[in-house]
Amino acid sequence: MAKSFPKQQYPQTFKLFFFFLPISLALTSFFLVFIYIYSTSSVLTNPQSTPFLQPATNVSLFDLIIPLPTDNEDTVPFSIDNTAEDLFFDLPTTSSNSKHTQWSLPLGHLFGFTGDNMNNTEIYQDTDVFLEDYKEMNKSFKIFVYPHKPDDPFANVLLPVDFDPKGHYASELYFKKALFNSHFITKDPNQADLFYMPFSIADMRHDPRIGPQGLQDFIKDYIFNISSKYPFWNRTGGADHFYVACHSISRFAMDKAGEAKENAIQLVCSSTYFVPSYFPHKDASLPQIWPKERDPKSLVSSKRNQLAFFAGQVNSPVRAALLKHWVNDTEIFAHFGRLETDDGEEQLRSKFCLHVKGFEVNTARVTDALHYGCVPVILANHYDLPFADILNWKSFSVVVHYVDIPVLKKILQGISFEELSWLQKNVLKVREHFKWNVPAVDYDAFYMAMYELWLRKSSVRVRLSASREYI
Ligand SMILES: *[C@@H]1O[C@H](CO)[C@@H](O)[C@H](O)[C@H]1NC(C)=O
Ligand SMILES: *[C@@H]1O[C@H](CO)[C@@H](O)[C@H](O)[C@H]1NC(C)=O
Ligand SMILES: *[C@@H]1O[C@H](CO)[C@@H](O)[C@H](O)[C@H]1NC(C)=O
Ligand SMILES: *[C@@H]1O[C@H](CO)[C@@H](O)[C@H](O)[C@H]1NC(C)=O
Ligand SMILES: *[C@@H]1O[C@H](CO)[C@@H](O)[C@H](O)[C@H]1NC(C)=O
Ligand SMILES: *[C@@H]1O[C@H](CO)[C@@H](O)[C@H](O)[C@H]1NC(C)=O
Repeated sequence: MAKSFPKQQYPQTFKLFFFFLPISLALTSFFLVFIYIYSTSSVLTNPQSTPFLQPATNVSLFDLIIPLPTDNEDTVPFSIDNTAEDLFFDLPTTSSNSKHTQWSLPLGHLFGFTGDNMNNTEIYQDTDVFLEDYKEMNKSFKIFVYPHKPDDPFANVLLPVDFDPKGHYASELYFKKALFNSHFITKDPNQADLFYMPFSIADMRHDPRIGPQGLQDFIKDYIFNISSKYPFWNRTGGADHFYVACHSISRFAMDKAGEAKENAIQLVCSSTYFVPSYFPHKDASLPQIWPKERDPKSLVSSKRNQLAFFAGQVNSPVRAALLKHWVNDTEIFAHFGRLETDDGEEQLRSKFCLHVKGFEVNTARVTDALHYGCVPVILANHYDLPFADILNWKSFSVVVHYVDIPVLKKILQGISFEELSWLQKNVLKVREHFKWNVPAVDYDAFYMAMYELWLRKSSVRVRLSASREYI
């Protein structure tokens, strides 16, 4: 007789267990994945948003910038300087002797003469690539500018000015002027690589109808207007759009236009990693340039008998550290406060000119130094230097970390005559890249800015609907 197996070989609970085990495992993994994504998503949407990068208070920066009577960054008093970046700054407590070993290295290390992968002694990151690519950019790059009529009530902030811009934030206006007169402009949006939103932050700031308080709403409205009237914004969420701003209050300007902040290319002077609205790589650094009437008569270096020069107010812990260590030094001429005489003369007789982060990271000091043939010394941690995608900054400047302020003199004195001559020669070569010309000339600040935009033009345009072709 065949042995029949009992139908109920396993107890009911055992079966249930095998039924629920995979399901509960799946659910658990799902929840774990969900929790993981949730906890990391705030970092993904904003790479800079870690808790300690938040300013200490909500109000300080914006409210305190508004009532300033002038555009001069140097007028901000020291006491209110609490930018997030400075939270990272602490003077070394150990004696400066502990640094001796670091700088007993041959100075070649500082300039990459001896490193394995830093042998580039040219002024460009890659000369061949840049020159080839530049030609291609010059030939084929096309920009569509959102059109505005001269009788638009906001023509003053949207159209280029008909005079030569002056002052701290001239870069913004020079760029617009040069672009409008350039061969990069196309009237046909189908040919455009990028779309330019021509509002000027500096002009808006001075327009009583807008002002610093109205910036964010104006830009929100502007983007609402162009995205309703034209199809271009919605195709990429603004990724093939750009604007240019040199004034540091542009750091708040996009706060009500999230898509613009996250997607559009921002060509800005305030290119520091501590500005939450600045996204390295997506955005690009524009030099702040104080336009000069004429070139100095002579840039010859033999008359440069002063080691280093700095002038500016003590409005940041970094400058306070500089003051503490070098205020009475005979070789580092550091003038704290406004200089009565023209500091061009001082820069002409100095070997090194210090760019020290103040209330903001960006000032015209770097380009001033280059103008006067003085080798810039950059004391501004986490500052994306202008045109850094193109220029090899090591070939014409010295970058010093905050913590090395106590040994600054040792660093500068350690630079040999040959190394200094090489830096000075390169300063004279890069000067042309930091100048605005009317009309613009090849390789000047305008063309360099265009090249930075060209490097960032690769966005993918999505089809908006089945019925609509790519426009
Ligand atoms: C920031 O602003 C919020 C709302 O305006 C307020 O409740 C909070 O106290 C502020 N925080 C600080 C540190 O000022
Ligand atoms: C860098 O230069 C040194 C000396 O000229 C040379 O020996 C070395 O091979 C170079 N390194 C690279 C990566 O090119
Ligand atoms: C860039 O284009 C302009 C206008 O077509 C032309 O005059 C100039 O020679 C070009 N420059 C280079 C380096 O190709
Ligand atoms: C947006 O469009 C409206 C209606 O045409 C206009 O009144 C307003 O000034 C525009 N705003 C901006 C910021 O362009
Ligand atoms: C773009 O998208 C916005 C928001 O979804 C919408 O209001 C607007 O009409 C769209 N623009 C066009 C031209 O379709
Ligand atoms: C600089 O010199 C002045 C005047 O001699 C003196 O009062 C001051 O303490 C000195 N400062 C430092 C940091 O040595």
